[in-house]
Amino acid sequence: MIHIPKSEYSRRRKALMAQMEPNSIAILPAAAVAIRNRDVEHVYRQDSDFQYLSGFPEPQAVLVLMPGRVHGEYILFCRERNAERELWDGLRAGQEGAIRDFGADDAFPITDIDDILPGLIEGRDRVYSAMGSNPEFDRHLMEWINVIRSKANLGAQPPNEFVALDHLLHDMRLYKSAAEVKVMREAARISAQAHVRAMQACRAGLHEFSLEAELDYEFRKGGAKMPAYGSIVAAGRNSCILHYQQNDALLKDGDLVLIDAGCEIDCYASDITRTFPVSGKYSAEQKAIYELVLASQEAAFAEIAPNKHWNQAHEATVRVITAGLVKLGLLRGDVEELIASEAYKAFYMHRAGHWLGLDVHDVGEYKVGGEWRVLEVGMALTVEPGIYIAADNQSVAKKWRGIGVRIEDDVVVTKTGCEILTNGVPKTVAEIEALMAAARTQAA
Ligand code: GLY
Ligand code: MN
Ligand code: MN
Repeated sequence: MIHIPKSEYSRRRKALMAQMEPNSIAILPAAAVAIRNRDVEHVYRQDSDFQYLSGFPEPQAVLVLMPGRVHGEYILFCRERNAERELWDGLRAGQEGAIRDFGADDAFPITDIDDILPGLIEGRDRVYSAMGSNPEFDRHLMEWINVIRSKANLGAQPPNEFVALDHLLHDMRLYKSAAEVKVMREAARISAQAHVRAMQACRAGLHEFSLEAELDYEFRKGGAKMPAYGSIVAAGRNSCILHYQQNDALLKDGDLVLIDAGCEIDCYASDITRTFPVSGKYSAEQKAIYELVLASQEAAFAEIAPNKHWNQAHEATVRVITAGLVKLGLLRGDVEELIASEAYKAFYMHRAGHWLGLDVHDVGEYKVGGEWRVLEVGMALTVEPGIYIAADNQSVAKKWRGIGVRIEDDVVVTKTGCEILTNGVPKTVAEIEALMAAARTQAA
């Protein structure tokens, strides 16, 4: 399995600590276990910030960074070993494992945190935390601070500055290292394989969930623990519902099916969309819309390189799609004016992409000082233009209705442009039709 090496977590912690003000402390909790129903839990997924700094996969843990602390800068509170619980629920690292396997300088039982953490915070001027994202943890943090305040008359010094950690940490997360790109390539490779499998399996008479099952099979077989987000398998008119998740409709010849799905490897997301005909052959109208979306995506790729700004790729898709819709008779008027009045939004209502990383819609600012962010080597993003013509859109000729097309790939900015991570799944009309025809011949 490809994963982030231990040395990288250490490098990240050091890089964060180097940016913290002197005499400060950072405190981050692990994700809580989410209950699905009664005593059934959701599959555990670590908090992305906590994962980024620790690689520690367990719940009930708190990570503490104290730059300059003589007895060790990285402290982990985690569950103790417990033979009976481990028999039921699986192994725990314990404090020994936290030090041996996860690089902690010091580790304490999570049950002792109320006794130990106030003493660690005391005397530090400034506390960095993810304020506002976890109300329960914010409350605990204030309780620990109040313990110190209550001892002020004994000379205890509570911190008096509280700083949101996001700004520093999320900016670090925006720039992907070589190791991160390697993991993201692997997630992309497995996801591409899953899309190929779904195209090959597609037949009228199956359901959307039949294709979702093919995706899940490839994800798990590739070693992914779970999809990076709820898979969208949207056939026919459902392809025009942007976040469709029902995935239970019948696949019918003559319809398109839009699949937006990607798996997660070592908590890194991939995010791919392909749109293909249930029958294996695009109709003339489907092909026209498809090739327009594809052309807009190609135009976007050309606008992704160092020194180009974040919005250039989006602007390129808007230009190509607006001009194309005019050519097809779906929009009427002057292209420049239609762009200025945002008339294209009737068909293309979302943006061309988002940052990608530990979160599918990853962290990182899109604007800096009011200006679109300039792209730099290592930034990862999606490129996902689309055109959606709702089945009940009375303002266009009937032949266009119910066509929804999105094409989505994942890229990383390189010195000269960008690397497309998701090329393992066909994209042109000819390639997709050939792949589907070959699968049908083989099955016959
Ligand atoms: N799958 C969510 C997105 O494409 O942004
Ligand atoms: Mn996306
Ligand atoms: Mn997507």
